[in-house]
Amino acid sequence: MKTSRLSGFYKLAMEERRQLAAQSAGVMPEETAPFLPANGLSAVEADHMIENAVGIYSLPLGIALNFLINDREVLVPMAIEEPSVVAGASFMAKLARAGGGFKAKVSEPHMIGQIQVLDLTDLRRAKEILIEHKQEILSIADQADPVLKKLGGGSRDLEINIIEESKIGAFLVVHLIYDVRDAMGANAVNTACEKLAPQIESLTGGRVHLRILSNLADRRIASVSTRIPVGTLAFGDYPGEKVRDGIIEAYAFAEIDPYRAATHNKGIMNGVDAVVIATGNDWRAIEAGAHAYAVRSGRYTSLSTWTANSDGDLVGALEIPMAVGIIGGATKVHPTARAALHLMGVTSASQLAEIIVSVGLAQNLAALRALATEGIQRGHMSLHARQVAVAAGASGDMIGKLATQLVIDKVIRVDHAVEILKSWQQKK
Ligand code: MEV
Repeated sequence: MKTSRLSGFYKLAMEERRQLAAQSAGVMPEETAPFLPANGLSAVEADHMIENAVGIYSLPLGIALNFLINDREVLVPMAIEEPSVVAGASFMAKLARAGGGFKAKVSEPHMIGQIQVLDLTDLRRAKEILIEHKQEILSIADQADPVLKKLGGGSRDLEINIIEESKIGAFLVVHLIYDVRDAMGANAVNTACEKLAPQIESLTGGRVHLRILSNLADRRIASVSTRIPVGTLAFGDYPGEKVRDGIIEAYAFAEIDPYRAATHNKGIMNGVDAVVIATGNDWRAIEAGAHAYAVRSGRYTSLSTWTANSDGDLVGALEIPMAVGIIGGATKVHPTARAALHLMGVTSASQLAEIIVSVGLAQNLAALRALATEGIQRGHMSLHARQVAVAAGASGDMIGKLATQLVIDKVIRVDHAVEILKSWQQKK
């Protein structure tokens, strides 16, 4: 990768953008061909992926620019239907570069599998027995995926929780901690949990009920921080200090109020999900994990933090469970996902997690900066107006013309767009 700073990228035609992105990432131009639907997922592949397949659903795929993550230049593919997200991430990544970019890291790729054990008469004794047989249980779990074991993954630990009270009385929950290396891990963990069930039943005399991965992947955390020099935050009539303080005030709102925190975190997930989807990963798993993690203290709160450092610069940080993989599932089968990973030069799931969490933080900053200053609608308007124009039936050159008129009128609604179109047609 030479650089992720590609000025004037947005002015190019789509084909030229793909060429330039490939060139800047050091991949062959044809390796970005799967970014077009004709070379993406085929109907045959789709038919093998889910049941009752009838077609393929498409989303726009954009590239976020300017990302410098752990001193590495990255062009980030994002699949998303919402305007302003790709531009917002790119712009904030540009500001972050001035402070050294994003510093991201991940914990070990440890996932949790849960095994529910019912019908026990002595829960404490059952727990003791399982702890006594821990090594034996872990080695059975290891046999579930010999390939993963060979690659350095496999079972790591066993934790036993007693649920004292529930709708069905007391029961035991076994947590299998499993290192899934470069996989998302659901298959490996679910297989291991199912394999353990008979052994756990015979050791405890209980009845194993559920055996499934937990999406609260709080042993697999991706974290990132960034410093935005205060001067770079200035724009128009807004001095940098005012923008910085406005962002910190906005964060304080999300930190204390769950209604705001949900929206604040949604903004983070705009960035996170777009990369998760572009790389063929399970965005429902990431969403579930993120929001469960946001309420870990008992009160739903912001996933990110924003403060000022002693130099007056803005410092942001984000921490989020990140169960993503680069092998198996759609990441392996989907040609567009493979091309996206290739363009980013991603060679491990950890590296992908570091990119995703960085984009999440950039996206959060884009939203807070806009909200704390001129509001979100101004930046949103022109692209949103184009979507409204298309929805109203405009095509070709008419889309841009109608979108401009909607922005001038400050009424960006389909009914208004239809009215304008009608009046133009009558004038013809
Ligand atoms: C819109 O998709 C996301 C925002 O609402 C996020 C936020 O409010 O922080 C703009």
